[in-house]
Amino acid sequence: MDKNPPLAAVILAAGQGTRMKSDFPKVAHRIGGRPLVAYPARMARDLGCSPTVLVVGHGAEEVKSAVGEPDLRYALQSEQLGTGHALMAARETLDDFSGDLLLLCGDVPLLRASTLERLIRYHAEQVAALTVLTAEVSDPHGYGRIVREGEEILRIVEEKDASASEKTIREINTGIYVFRAPLVFELLESIGRDNSQGEYYLTDVVEAARARGHNVRALPAADEEEILGINDRVQLARAADILRGRINEELMRSGVTLEDPSASYIEAGVRIGRDTVVQPGVHLRGKTTIGEGCLIEPGVVVTDCIIGNSVHLKAGSVLQGAEVGESSMVGPMAHLRPGTVLKGRNKVGNFVETKKAIIGLGSKSSHLTYIGDAEVGADVNIGCGTITCNYDGVNKHKTIIEDGVFVGSDTQFVAPVRIGRNSLIGAGSTITKDVPPDSLAVSRSPQVVREGWTLRKKKK
Ligand code: UD1
Ligand code: CA
Repeated sequence: MDKNPPLAAVILAAGQGTRMKSDFPKVAHRIGGRPLVAYPARMARDLGCSPTVLVVGHGAEEVKSAVGEPDLRYALQSEQLGTGHALMAARETLDDFSGDLLLLCGDVPLLRASTLERLIRYHAEQVAALTVLTAEVSDPHGYGRIVREGEEILRIVEEKDASASEKTIREINTGIYVFRAPLVFELLESIGRDNSQGEYYLTDVVEAARARGHNVRALPAADEEEILGINDRVQLARAADILRGRINEELMRSGVTLEDPSASYIEAGVRIGRDTVVQPGVHLRGKTTIGEGCLIEPGVVVTDCIIGNSVHLKAGSVLQGAEVGESSMVGPMAHLRPGTVLKGRNKVGNFVETKKAIIGLGSKSSHLTYIGDAEVGADVNIGCGTITCNYDGVNKHKTIIEDGVFVGSDTQFVAPVRIGRNSLIGAGSTITKDVPPDSLAVSRSPQVVREGWTLRKKKK
């Protein structure tokens, strides 16, 4: 039986983030391939919050389009008069809601679900009107301080309003809370802005709750890193580093070798099979899956790809939206663009670019080639300098090369064109017409030799 009260979330993201010194809203800045605001939004979804309200203000439209999370409600705080004012802005969107309200900040991306679950549970056990997530930090400067009397929280005092002795308190307000709703909105009505910043402080709800005889509780987070809030680009880089550290550690524990984890840039959505070796300076992004026993050399950038087992990606290759079948070799310095499918046991060598190209089992293209809008069969050998001329300036056309074809070096296929199976294209050919199976096709102007020509020229 589920006796938990309903859970909703409000994410505060209306602030400007002046210290970022940026033309973009702070929470639209990215770590690990996602905007900051996407982290609490995803967390709220994972915790089953319904609804989740995002409070936007500064750069509202940019923040909304950045967040990339469906099923959010939005509340507009058009003037930023403080955190209390910001939560109040969400009141209307939560009209129908009664239960526990989780308050998250758009600029605190590293919180773990387990910590929030602990906070929500503790809040329920303590029958509190509000429970604040706190942290013991070595340097509390700039944070609100938690003024306690045992389990009971007397108040939260902002740095700018704190007395000298309050400033020595090292337990700080993380800015994350669980509130009882709609009670919190009634309490917010009673708070003023008579403080050093002239803002409506959400933290003043503590005293308002106590004045009405409600319990106020605080729960310390286990780990200081989790509650890191981003105010400037130094903290942004630090958070990105912590996030990478978590991802990398999980991968290494699951059987992936990262030769230098401090130089491995792997996003959270990436899956990697065991015994794959990732060398330094590799970037694996988006929805990428990599099989077992692969070797990924320095400088490889893979985005949204499916890579099979035992694939060798050589240095400097860039792959996006491609599928690479097992035991293939790619690069060095190959460029696989969206719609590329290597069926397996392929070789795509240096300075080869592919796009919307399906390449059959065992086929090879070892050097300096462009294959676009093409279907290539199995066991095809594509010589150096081959070009599919797929674009006539208006439309794209297809090149079809059937199984077993041998393409001599420096060949151009002027699409649309089809090369029948087991044919051979002579080097240096410009192929403009279909070639039937088992044929030789050559198109070169006959070679002219004039013996002694240069000697005669020099004499003149
Ligand atoms: C707040 C807390 C402080 C706590 C700290 C943790 C208050 C009064 N103080 O301080 O105790 O230690 O967070 O980081 O709450 N925001 C809005 N609208 C506003 C103001 C803020 O949406 O009008 C949003 C910001 O975008 C941000 C969050 O609320 O996501 C926190 O705001 P911020 O200005 O950083 O609060 P602090 O002064 O740091
Ligand atoms: Ca802050």
